[in-house]
Amino acid sequence: MRSLIVLVAAATTLTVRARPPIRGASPLAGDFFQRALQNTWRAVEATLGWSDLTGLGGYGEPFVAPDKSVYQWLASNDDFSKITKLIKYDESIVNLLDSSQGLTFFAPDNKALPSPRHRKDVHSIQVYHQDALPQLWSHVDILDEGDDDDDKEKKRRLFKAILHQVLLYHVLPYDSTSTRLGVNSTVQTALVAKDGSFDGQPRRIKIEKTLVPPAITLNMYAKVIQGDIEATNGVIHVVDHPLFPPISILDTAYMLPHWLSTTTSAAQKVHLEDALQYHYVRSQRDKKGDFEGAPDVTLFAPSNDAWKKLPEKLVLYLFSPFGSKALRKLLLFHTVPDYLIFSEWIHDARKEKDGNVVASGVEFDWEYTFPSGLKDHTLHVHITKTTPTIPVPGIAYFELQVENEKAETIDIVGRNGALHVIPSVLDPRKNDHLDEPNWEDWEDWLPKWGEA
Ligand SMILES: *[C@@H]1O[C@H](CO)[C@@H](O)[C@H](O)[C@H]1NC(C)=O
Repeated sequence: MRSLIVLVAAATTLTVRARPPIRGASPLAGDFFQRALQNTWRAVEATLGWSDLTGLGGYGEPFVAPDKSVYQWLASNDDFSKITKLIKYDESIVNLLDSSQGLTFFAPDNKALPSPRHRKDVHSIQVYHQDALPQLWSHVDILDEGDDDDDKEKKRRLFKAILHQVLLYHVLPYDSTSTRLGVNSTVQTALVAKDGSFDGQPRRIKIEKTLVPPAITLNMYAKVIQGDIEATNGVIHVVDHPLFPPISILDTAYMLPHWLSTTTSAAQKVHLEDALQYHYVRSQRDKKGDFEGAPDVTLFAPSNDAWKKLPEKLVLYLFSPFGSKALRKLLLFHTVPDYLIFSEWIHDARKEKDGNVVASGVEFDWEYTFPSGLKDHTLHVHITKTTPTIPVPGIAYFELQVENEKAETIDIVGRNGALHVIPSVLDPRKNDHLDEPNWEDWEDWLPKWGEA
């Protein structure tokens, strides 16, 4: 059995090296070639099976904590003294992790705070998120100081409020092994939105699971380095970065400039902040402010490459003062206001009660037409969830298409909604009978359409 595993592992390594990027069209490999490789890949995955993450991290032997609660386990382990210290400032979190039954806790170890491990594949979004809790951590002394002046006291209160939210975002209200984590594309946390955004729903975490090497990545930046530590009241997964509650979808897009800078400049240029951003604005008169912007929205964001596929003259036109109206309309066509569209959880924020139109289950094939942010225009969304032919626990594949365009990255979570990255700019004329979106004749219709 062991030698078989070694063999399969060796074969897998070879396959990995030979594996071209499956996302996005490669100029050399035709669709057929891609698909064939993808099938091979899936077959290898299926043969290998999902070996869970236990023991693969830097923590040697798998942990078992048969007689300790999640909190007790953290508090008794020197590698987690920093997160334990933070938890201790918040009695409600201590209680949650000590006495409630059935939960999952993503535990950043001491190395994750304050200076995150150096990683080569750092996105700018990671830099932002990496900074968040460490920054909080570096101010932690404020909590130990005696309450002297009002200003300090105010800071302390603010710190505690943020800390409470951040810690809750590390908790799932059910117990989920690493095997179970991988079957969902996003999961709901114990942190419920209370700022008017996300329709007051629990905030979510994006889960990405790869088999070789076995890895689970949360929100694109935090890696589970040790999974499945079983405590009496739940399960702990050690992460190499703290998690931070999501920011607005436009801010999230700003954090990914190598990917989405054209879309964000376009949004900025035509002042679409209010349709995509949700943030706190301090009022001028008194000190109190309020949240402004779009509380619930989904954005299908064309990648930088998508914009490059358009005729050059068209892009120049769109980004010129003459093209502003058309650009604004075009971008609005890529949004769905009032809906939080994740591949397994679709929430209609306009409904008073029960706005969940859930596509869920082990497998599904789900289609729906949503009203886009551009009046009288709809977007057709098709989502599938499949499992490998040979059933392997803990593996599921997701695909999301909008107007027949397959998203290259799905389910990026924002404070105020969902972000999916698509490889083409969508054509509002809905010419989806054409094989390739054709923009060559744009001069005949687009300027007029922009003015209409
Ligand atoms: C998560 O995945 C499981 C198994 O595939 C499924 O039954 C469940 O409905 C999913 N959860 C959501 C919220 O869709």
